[in-house]
Amino acid sequence: VTSSDQWDPDQYHRFRAERSRPFFDLVSLIERDRTPLLGPSVVDLGCGTGELTAEAHRMLDARVTVGIDSSAAMLEQAVVHASPRLTFEAGDLAAYPGDGVSPVDIVISNAAMQWVPDHETVLARWADALTEHGQLAVQVPGNVDHASHVVAAAVAAEPAFEEAFAPSGGPPLDAVHHVLAPERYAEVLDELGFAAQQVRLQVYGHHLASTSEVVEWVKGTSLTRFQRVLEPADFDRFLVAYRTRLIETLGDHEPYFYAFKRILLWARR
Ligand SMILES: C[S@@+](CC[C@H](N)C(=O)[O-])C[C@H]1O[C@@H](n2cnc3c(N)ncnc32)[C@H](O)[C@@H]1O
Repeated sequence: VTSSDQWDPDQYHRFRAERSRPFFDLVSLIERDRTPLLGPSVVDLGCGTGELTAEAHRMLDARVTVGIDSSAAMLEQAVVHASPRLTFEAGDLAAYPGDGVSPVDIVISNAAMQWVPDHETVLARWADALTEHGQLAVQVPGNVDHASHVVAAAVAAEPAFEEAFAPSGGPPLDAVHHVLAPERYAEVLDELGFAAQQVRLQVYGHHLASTSEVVEWVKGTSLTRFQRVLEPADFDRFLVAYRTRLIETLGDHEPYFYAFKRILLWARR
C-alpha cells in the first residue's frame, strides 16, 4: 500500500456482510427483461476487491463484466475472481468510459462515486457509455450529517491538527460535499434523458458491538482520506481524538445501532 493508496482490504472487509446489503438491493433494481438475450455487458466502477463484481456477474448472467478500480491493493485481491468473461482493470471511475471504449448494457457503481467531485458530469459520462436500452445502478452513502462524519471534520479542524494537515494544504473535507441530495440526482437523471428512473434514500441499520466500532467502520472507508495525508503518528493521534469525541457525542453503547443512510439510483435509457 503506497501513500496514494490507503485502501486496506482487511479493514474494509471487517463489515463485509453489512456493506454487501445495499449492493444486492442495487442489483435488484436492474430490469432483467430489458437485458440482451445473450446476457448483458456490465462494468462495475470502483469495484474494490471484486467479490461483489463477481456476484453481479453471476446474478445478471452477464456476457462480459469488467471491474475498474484505482487502488492497486484492492485490485490485487480481485484477481482471484477473474475469469475469461470477468476481468479487472486499473482506472479512474470519473474518467470512464474514456476513448475507444465500447458501450455497455449496465453500469454499476457501489459505494465509490462519493470519492470524486462533480456528479452531474460523471453521471453524464456514464450515461453516454450506455447502449440504447442501457441501465445505470449507483449507490452512494448519504450520511455526511451523521456524527461519524461531522465529528471527523470537527476534529480535523482543531488547532491541534493544524500543523499536521498544513503540508497537504489543510484537512481534506471537500470530499464530504460531493454527494448530492436525492432529489438532485433525480433531476440530473431526468436532464440526461433517461426514460425511467428510481432514486431512493434507504436507512441501513447496523448493530455494531459498541460505539467505538464506528471508528473501525469508518477507518476502512471515509477516514482513509485523512490517513492519506497525515504522517502515521499524526493519524494515530487523530484516531484517539476522534474516538473520544465520537463517544462523547453518541454515548458509549454496547451494542450501538449505526443508522446509515444511503442513496440508490437506477435509470434506464
Ligand atoms: C467503499 S469501496 C467499494 C468497493 C466495492 N464497490 C464494494 O461495494 O465493496 C470504494 C472503492 O472505490 C475505489 N475508488 C475510489 N476512488 C476511485 C476512483 N477515482 N476511480 C476508481 N476507483 C476509485 C476505491 O479504491 C475503493 O476500492
